[in-house]
Amino acid sequence: MIIDKCAQTERDALMVFGDWDEASTVRTQPYAYDLSGWTREGEQHEDWFVSTALPWLADDAVHSRGEDVRQELLARYLVMFLDYTTELETRIVNRSIVTIAHDRVDFGLSAPLKLTGLKLYADEAYHAVMSAAVANQVSAIYGINNREITSERVQNIRALADAVDPVHAELAWFVIGFVSETVITKEFLKISKATIYTPVYLMLRDHLEDELKHSLYFSNLFSIIWQRASKAQQTFISTFIIHAIYEFFRLHKTWLYESLRCVGIDDSSAEIIHERQQGVFPHRARAKAGCTATITAMKRSGFFKDPLNVERFVEAGLL
Ligand SMILES: [Fe+2]
Ligand SMILES: [Fe+2]
Repeated sequence: MIIDKCAQTERDALMVFGDWDEASTVRTQPYAYDLSGWTREGEQHEDWFVSTALPWLADDAVHSRGEDVRQELLARYLVMFLDYTTELETRIVNRSIVTIAHDRVDFGLSAPLKLTGLKLYADEAYHAVMSAAVANQVSAIYGINNREITSERVQNIRALADAVDPVHAELAWFVIGFVSETVITKEFLKISKATIYTPVYLMLRDHLEDELKHSLYFSNLFSIIWQRASKAQQTFISTFIIHAIYEFFRLHKTWLYESLRCVGIDDSSAEIIHERQQGVFPHRARAKAGCTATITAMKRSGFFKDPLNVERFVEAGLL
């Protein structure tokens, strides 16, 4: 019975990539995101990014600066988001795929499952290309050149992986990939419902289409790995995953200070904005709201059949 269930889960994981060579963005939308038609006058009612992602735009210190500053901060946020995406794809998600494609934890993953991991790897590499291409164009428009500051969250996540017991290092990378690929879709869904400058919108929507499949693949993979994990591996997963989830919802602090400075807003206003967004409670609320697809996949795997795991998640504020 368990073998049947595993086989079905594997079929589900593979199915979403059945038409990968015809449907993936890398095949259907090569270099389709040209911003050269943008003019300040022409796009007056088109935002660069979803303003709900930056709730602090409504703060008086920012709001009082007027529309140009608001739009520049949205553009700067977009560039940060895309540069972060580029790093996330290459240094986080694709690092996780290395673990899967070569079955480094020795879970007996099938050849088709590992091959599908490589298709996802190719998707992410193209997402990095298109994100960087759009970020370069927006940066040129606004003269943004301090782009290395976007690495902060990626560095934190890599540090988290580096700090685990070497015995579980590869498993940690799988968990990080699973969290990343299940929280990202929700973020993109919010974006795809908003009205933003068309070429940017199209790129984000195309990315989302691939990510919906990635999320399903990783969710099914989580079930397979959870069922095959040893007791010690399960214990590791159930504690480590909470840290991983929280890391994905930490704000880009350096970016915030730096960007506000660039538009002439002082550090004390930045501090107030940061405190309000990054305190324990808002961080917790963001993580809880953002990880619902992650939790759903974990429920399906049987993870929460262990009352201790329920307790861990309730205590962490995620359930
Ligand atoms: Fe992606
Ligand atoms: Fe992905």
